[in-house]
Amino acid sequence: MPRPPPVARRESAMPKTQIESVLIQSYESSMSVGCYQYQDMESGSSASNYRLEGKVAIITGGASGIGEASVRLFVQNGASVVIADVQDEKGLELAKELCSDTVVYKRCDVTQESDVEALVDFAIKKWGKLDIMFNNAGILGKSLTKEVSTMDMDDFDHVMLVNTRGMVLGVKHASKAMLQTKTKGSIICTSSIASISGGLATTAYTISKHAVLGLIRAASSDLGRYGIRVNCISPAGVVTPLVVEFLQKVTSNPSLTPAQAQDACDETSCFVGHSLSALDIAHAALYLASDNAAFVSGLNLVVDGGFTASHQGFKK
Ligand SMILES: NC(=O)c1ccc[n+]([C@@H]2O[C@H](COP(=O)([O-])OP(=O)(O)OC[C@H]3O[C@@H](n4cnc5c(N)ncnc54)[C@H](O)[C@@H]3O)[C@@H](O)[C@H]2O)c1
Repeated sequence: MPRPPPVARRESAMPKTQIESVLIQSYESSMSVGCYQYQDMESGSSASNYRLEGKVAIITGGASGIGEASVRLFVQNGASVVIADVQDEKGLELAKELCSDTVVYKRCDVTQESDVEALVDFAIKKWGKLDIMFNNAGILGKSLTKEVSTMDMDDFDHVMLVNTRGMVLGVKHASKAMLQTKTKGSIICTSSIASISGGLATTAYTISKHAVLGLIRAASSDLGRYGIRVNCISPAGVVTPLVVEFLQKVTSNPSLTPAQAQDACDETSCFVGHSLSALDIAHAALYLASDNAAFVSGLNLVVDGGFTASHQGFKK
């Protein structure tokens, strides 16, 4: 990364007014903060690794895939994290591995309002506040159909229950707690590129992820006046257990490996030289969770290497 040019100190021969002195001082101090952060990023020193220091976060679906990568990154960045999931063994193992006083596992089925309420209460009782709610738990559903005419309505209900009601409950109870504790928090939901385009996933999943956009827009418009930000992230295909299982089903190959799943995801990508990973999504969440995104709300942060922004052109 090229180093920014040194800040030139301009000594004026003219005597400074009081206002000029204050302006110059504030300009110089802001430049020195900028340089300090820049050097930190370059040397990789620890100061730049604490973007969430002092913050309390809940990550649902935190035991696996994107959620797990986010737990690790948030902890590295100084946050206290509650891992929430229904996979107790994986969640407890992750908390134990991170082996820190600042990571705990709490079982929570996001479809149950009492569970979500108890989860938020748990974080508040333990650490006194909630700064970040990352509503990330989601499922693809059992049905693989994109055909509306043959949709399985029980499967549709289940997908909506987890992917939409689960996110609504997370936003509801996190915002309630943030309002009660007067915390200017950040609420993030994991949507999908299926939130902005049809045909990329099953019809039920596509509908459930479009609904997440409606949720973050409505909630950001409501909660902005209290300083609470609400955003979502829309990833393209990331190799996680969810995607491997999906590809095993659609290809009728139960022994399809994560490496083969990665090849399949890379094939649809129009971006060369980088395979999308769970860590890329965790970094997007870290940005939205941090004070660097202090004025960012109502955003659907699409992380797809330009896939949905581009059209490969008409066939010749
Ligand atoms: N992997 C992708 O390609 C991709 C792309 C776009 C969006 N997403 C979204 O990312 C999110 C995370 O998915 P992932 O790919 O990491 O999958 P994953 O299966 O690895 O993780 C999902 C986690 O959610 C948990 N979960 C499921 N139902 C739950 C419930 N009712 N209550 C609590 N936890 C529950 C699971 O136990 C699991 O640990 C989902 O919302 C998914 O829709 C994934």
